[in-house]
Amino acid sequence: MAVYQAATSEIGGLFPLISAAGTPAIGARIGYDTLSGGAFYAHPIEWVLRGLATNPNMVVFGEPGRGKSSTVVAFLLRMMLFGVKTLISGDVKGEYTPLLRGLGITPITLGSGSPARLNALDLGPLRTRWAGWPLARQREELAGVLGRWVTLLVALAEAQGYRATVTDEAVLSAVLRRLVGVDDGYTHLLPVTIPHVQRQLADPDDALVAATRFADRRQFLDTLRPITDALGNLITGPLAGLFDQETTIALDWDAPAQSMDLSRLRPRGDQAVAVALTCLGSWSSMVTDLQDDGEIRLVVRDEVWRQMRLGLRAVHAVDSDLRLSRADRKIQVLVMHKPSDPLSVGAAGSQEVAIAKDLLALCSTRILFGQSTRVADDLAEDLALSEREQDSITGWAMDRTGRALWKIENTTGHRVQIVLSPTERRLFDTNAALRARKPR
Ligand SMILES: Nc1ncnc2c1ncn2[C@@H]1O[C@H](COP(=O)(O)OP(=O)(O)OP(=O)(O)O)[C@@H](O)[C@H]1O
Ligand SMILES: [Mg+2]
Repeated sequence: MAVYQAATSEIGGLFPLISAAGTPAIGARIGYDTLSGGAFYAHPIEWVLRGLATNPNMVVFGEPGRGKSSTVVAFLLRMMLFGVKTLISGDVKGEYTPLLRGLGITPITLGSGSPARLNALDLGPLRTRWAGWPLARQREELAGVLGRWVTLLVALAEAQGYRATVTDEAVLSAVLRRLVGVDDGYTHLLPVTIPHVQRQLADPDDALVAATRFADRRQFLDTLRPITDALGNLITGPLAGLFDQETTIALDWDAPAQSMDLSRLRPRGDQAVAVALTCLGSWSSMVTDLQDDGEIRLVVRDEVWRQMRLGLRAVHAVDSDLRLSRADRKIQVLVMHKPSDPLSVGAAGSQEVAIAKDLLALCSTRILFGQSTRVADDLAEDLALSEREQDSITGWAMDRTGRALWKIENTTGHRVQIVLSPTERRLFDTNAALRARKPR
């Protein structure tokens, strides 16, 4: 028991029996609830099962350096004890690499000098499962994948400043269907890459022109020129070769964690990193969806705000990755700085803002780290925070690293101090680079 001493001139009254309506003691022990002093546990899937939340997804908000990524690390390590496996879908700064190495796992590195390739239009486990499925399941799964691919391709086009039309989307969908071979009644699916799609658009055959109801080839080419060129630029741009060839990496589904280190892509610019995150996000959510080995999987999308800055379609892509997910045993974690990351893509009241708000609704658990007053005002509005909760974010949470308000849907937020073990601190020290340069 802790012993406290204070004079009555300082303390007006003491009530020792404070209890916070805590979360059930199941899952990752994160730290302590500073109101009651009791341990705080997190297990989003249990929260859904017990009616505390409607979905197991989590979103983390906070200023840089407040401890967002460290919290994700603590969460994933502690969930590992329950057999939960993690996929870090894009580690922009290479921060998770020492952690993975500490676990005896070699992360997948994308970028200069690495032979790893990831086809953005990978069929993943769909290809091997296909033949064993009844027709209805085949149709359903294919519709899901095609929807995801079209969303991805239009997001990649928008990243280059072109806003795809409904016609573009319809043609992309038709082209993708042909390329995978289902229209021909194939019993197996054929691999597709972005260059395949681009070639079909740049050099359509008569059947495609007719199927997409263009008067002639000329009209097809003229109408689809912008989207064709946008896809062409992806093949020749700064990410050339990385996401437009057959996948060469194999995820080890039995490993407790896997990570895709993107730190070598940083010299190629913010835009390239954001495009890479978009491709990875779409791929990860598809492959984890289809991995029905009964394991709970955590998909971490740290720095997802970089992707959202690409525009409305990129926000839409994240939204559909969450929405289309039909795997019950998957927890997606999005890490952002502020709510305006997704909202900055449009003016107030616009369709963009509506989508961004929907996105927040797809994440029942909100972990709110310290924020400036202005940002906290936005958060308070978007997440319907009480005045007290808002004060916690601008005051209490700013006083120490690792303090956050954990808010599960509309229940009152818990003020939680995350406690890191010395090992966790050593393996995930994002300030290591700064420290190393300190003069002796
Ligand atoms: N609970 C904690 N206790 C002590 N130190 C912590 C805690 N949480 C984080 N830190 C330290 O604070 C530093 C920054 O943490 P972290 O990288 O997790 O922040 P972040 O919010 O993800 O930042 P960014 O937005 O820049 O990615 C790290 O060096 C980490 O070791
Ligand atoms: Mg971070």
